[in-house]
Amino acid sequence: MELFDVYSLFNVTPVRARGCTVWDDKDQEYLDLYGGHAVISVGHSHPHYVQALKDQLDKIGFYSNSVRNPLQEELARRLGEASGYDDYTLFLDNSGAESNENAVKLASFHTGRDRVIAFRRSFHGRTSGAVALTDNPAIVSPFNAHHKVTFCELNDGDAVAEELAKKDVAAVIIEGIQGCGGIHEPQAGFLQMLDRTCRRYGTVLILDEVQSGYGRTGKFFAHQWAGIRPGIITMGKGIANGFPCGGILIAPEFRARKGMLGTTFGGNYLACAGALAVLDILEQEGLVDNARIVGEYLKNHIPASPRISEVRGKGLMLGIEFNEPVAPLRQALLYDKHIFTGVAGQNMIRLLAPLCLTQAEADRFLEAFKEVLAA
Ligand SMILES: Cc1ncc(COP(=O)(O)O)c(C=O)c1O
Repeated sequence: MELFDVYSLFNVTPVRARGCTVWDDKDQEYLDLYGGHAVISVGHSHPHYVQALKDQLDKIGFYSNSVRNPLQEELARRLGEASGYDDYTLFLDNSGAESNENAVKLASFHTGRDRVIAFRRSFHGRTSGAVALTDNPAIVSPFNAHHKVTFCELNDGDAVAEELAKKDVAAVIIEGIQGCGGIHEPQAGFLQMLDRTCRRYGTVLILDEVQSGYGRTGKFFAHQWAGIRPGIITMGKGIANGFPCGGILIAPEFRARKGMLGTTFGGNYLACAGALAVLDILEQEGLVDNARIVGEYLKNHIPASPRISEVRGKGLMLGIEFNEPVAPLRQALLYDKHIFTGVAGQNMIRLLAPLCLTQAEADRFLEAFKEVLAA
């Protein structure tokens, strides 16, 4: 049997990794400025994380959500402390898309409404509701297209206010910083206006922090730069450093009902052990501050070039927009300089390094980047 051929692959086979370094099957070393698509938060194969998963596996690997799991309770308590949301509740699932599905489902249950507002250039995942909220017709099948979704321009307060005033909107969903759509930031004033106007019309504000959360922008969640407190916050990617895990934080006014949400694998022992180890390391190594400091350094040192139109983003969620397609540059970085980078669209190099990136590693990237730009 062959694999269903949906991924464009680079000709690299990673076999081991540590911190921000990855080695392939020929023992070639790579610097990782991509973090496995923003998933590696505390660094590859961090010894504390590895030990936590091994120890857990020695005890018990899996049971169902029909029995008590103290690790889930510990994770809820620790995550509440780390994020500043200790009055919220936690529901654990398995991925970013599933978190967004659960968030809109909960908002719809809570309001009794079925329309959702999303934004141009959004990406919220590939499951049915999440992909319907994603502004990319190429990945929305006819089956997915039946949801009631209205797309507004990012930062267009008047357009959203006009929709909300119709009082039929269950939720507004917005990324902390748009990732796949090309590192576009909602303005702080826009987020504050959304928060206010959603409350006024009984609509739930959902912050998709799957990519921008967990310390990546230099605060625990990107929306915290704007000082707002949304109804629901969705998480994935860095939450367990690569062990599949997702979750949503839910404001106190939402009432749970038995059976309202559920999942077989969500909140399993291994995911919780991984997520707890991630919180330990973020705290012990000050990685949220590191993301802010090293990210700012990196952003400030991207060389000016007539080929580059703009550098956008915060912390270690950065986009370098070119006036031309970036595929040849990324290939040169990967195959000649042995550096992994990400992409958004045709013209943007997207940097999503592990949050433990050092200034020396940032310098190594900057040196290589200048050389491929000049070539
Ligand atoms: C903002 C955002 N939301 C949701 C998702 C979907 O996450 P997953 O691929 O874990 O389902 C992604 C993935 O890239 C994302 O960037």
